Amino acid sequence: MKIVIPGGTGQVGTILRRALSAASHEVVVLTRRPVRDGEVQWDGVTRGPWTAAVDGSDVVINLAGRSVSCRYTPANLQAMMDSRVDSARVVGEAIAAAARPPRVWLQMSTATVYAHRFDAPNDEARGVVGGSEPGVPGYWAYSVEIAKAWERAQEQAETPGTRKVALRSAMVMSPDRGGVFDVLLRLARLGLGGPVAGGAQYLSWIHDLDFVRAVEFLVERSDLSGPVNLAAPAPLPQRAFMRELRAAWGVPVGLPATKWMAELGAFAMRSDTELLLKSRRVVPGRLLDAGFAFDHGEWRGAADDLVRRVRGARAGS
Ligand SMILES: NC(=O)c1ccc[n+]([C@@H]2O[C@H](COP(=O)([O-])OP(=O)(O)OC[C@H]3O[C@@H](n4cnc5c(N)ncnc54)[C@H](OP(=O)(O)O)[C@@H]3O)[C@@H](O)[C@H]2O)c1
Repeated sequence: MKIVIPGGTGQVGTILRRALSAASHEVVVLTRRPVRDGEVQWDGVTRGPWTAAVDGSDVVINLAGRSVSCRYTPANLQAMMDSRVDSARVVGEAIAAAARPPRVWLQMSTATVYAHRFDAPNDEARGVVGGSEPGVPGYWAYSVEIAKAWERAQEQAETPGTRKVALRSAMVMSPDRGGVFDVLLRLARLGLGGPVAGGAQYLSWIHDLDFVRAVEFLVERSDLSGPVNLAAPAPLPQRAFMRELRAAWGVPVGLPATKWMAELGAFAMRSDTELLLKSRRVVPGRLLDAGFAFDHGEWRGAADDLVRRVRGARAGS
């Protein structure tokens, strides 16, 4: 297949590009700064010569968006919103104008669309969309607004010949440097991988190879469209998540951190505590109903596998 990946130069794009190229697909990445073979320039806002790559393709997987690992200043929040809505809109325009549109458009979304909650898991049918939870910082609602506007941009695109799926993905755990697993593992190895603010908040995750398999599944399953959760079936509280990660690497202790320590740490890392403190309890209702089977459904086994691959890569280099 010819697969076009707008925003495919980042963490998730690296995972998909590696796997889909290895499976002998032709992969074209749209990026603002092309440097490698198979990369085509676009700006994520306006139509241009890049739309020729979409016309005649089989699949489009749009991942573009300003990184969420930043301070949530008004300017950064606006850039997070605009880069997602604009890129989804213009991808939709390119598909709508194509003489031979792709058969499926997978649009990245996020598990962050669901409410901060502890009491029950969120699947697509019964899950609670966030934005009005009591007792959480007001700006958390904006992340939900971004997710909703992002999905709306895809829904509103008039692409009758193309099936549309919104990927409500949890954190994708891969052994690559700079990814979320790398950051969490580094903290654990420094002895800082303990509970944050009590650690009761749920952490939803998906192993990189299951993420790729779920994407392939959604490409093939022409009966599935709309929002789909991409998350392992067993999200767990942050303190248990970090305990399993420490055990997988062999780190005996993880210092607990209070909310204020987390604020300081996030400030030092130019990141935001919402990523640490929001309870994301998301489960893959539709994938499981459709018969998708996870290879890495439990965190301990997934963490062991990721640690083994990290160690293998380091030994190799
Ligand atoms: N990583 C996860 O675990 C995870 C989980 C759920 C959802 N997501 C979402 O999935 C998407 C991909 O995640 P990722 O971790 O691969 O993100 P990433 O590493 O930050 O990569 C996103 C890509 O978007 C492009 N981009 C950034 N700002 C842009 C802008 N203003 N206009 C157009 N393109 C822009 C960049 O490509 P160029 O600089 O090459 O143009 C970048 O490589 C993101 O939207 C993220 O929010 C990620």
